[in-house]
Amino acid sequence: MDVVILKDGPAVCKEASRRIADQVNRKADSVLGLATGNTMVGVYKDLVRRHREAELDCSEVTTFNLDEYVGLAPEHPCSYHTYMNEHLFSKVPFFRNLIPDSSETNFVQMCADYEAQIQGCGGIDLQLLGLGRDGHIGFNEPCSSLSSRTRLKTLTPMTVGTNKRHFPEGQPVPYHVITMGIATIMEAREVLLLAFGESKVDAIAAMVEGPVSAMCPASALQYHPHCTVLIDEVAASKLKMADYFRFIHQNWLEG
Ligand code: GLP
Repeated sequence: MDVVILKDGPAVCKEASRRIADQVNRKADSVLGLATGNTMVGVYKDLVRRHREAELDCSEVTTFNLDEYVGLAPEHPCSYHTYMNEHLFSKVPFFRNLIPDSSETNFVQMCADYEAQIQGCGGIDLQLLGLGRDGHIGFNEPCSSLSSRTRLKTLTPMTVGTNKRHFPEGQPVPYHVITMGIATIMEAREVLLLAFGESKVDAIAAMVEGPVSAMCPASALQYHPHCTVLIDEVAASKLKMADYFRFIHQNWLEG
């Protein structure tokens, strides 16, 4: 795991955007795995800026989103379809954007098809990830199988409570979702996980320095051969190895 400690949230988002743009500039028909949540808003904003300034062309890029709520139509204002359209897809043209279709009634078939579509595109080159307060990635909640694939999941009451802020007052938050599995995520050739702020301090410590355990799904990334963790000073505040991570980057040697 390469842990990069940056000044603050905006610096994390800019660095992520730079790395995504590098990937697309290296390989025009890249396959990107995309995430949602507050963490990604600044990343997508910077990608839109790069596109407007002609630094980024995504016209050959295929994207796969991590997850979607069950029971929300794609055009629902709180669906992840809407989030992606608002922040990125309506502003930057792509070759193809895929998001789990939770309006399907045969979830098992739909999830198998989603996995097959990822394989059919040659797999994901770069997977972007946020981090839940309980260490979830995508919507793989604690105790998800570390070898799980795309499937139906039930959210924990804590995650439902956290996500309430994205829904209008009084509107129920779905507690069923479709999410890529941990094994699906682990097959991406490169993973970029972003986290910043006080609410991520414990999850970052558990993920980077704790044992590999289904209790912290993100800890599975300790087994990933090419995983970069971009965090701010606050999110790094409980890392025992923080000085070592800084030392590595002060003395960076390209391998
Ligand atoms: C949701 C998403 C995750 C995301 C997490 C963190 O649970 N399914 O993919 O990483 O939220 O969200 P935020 O970035 O808002 O903290």
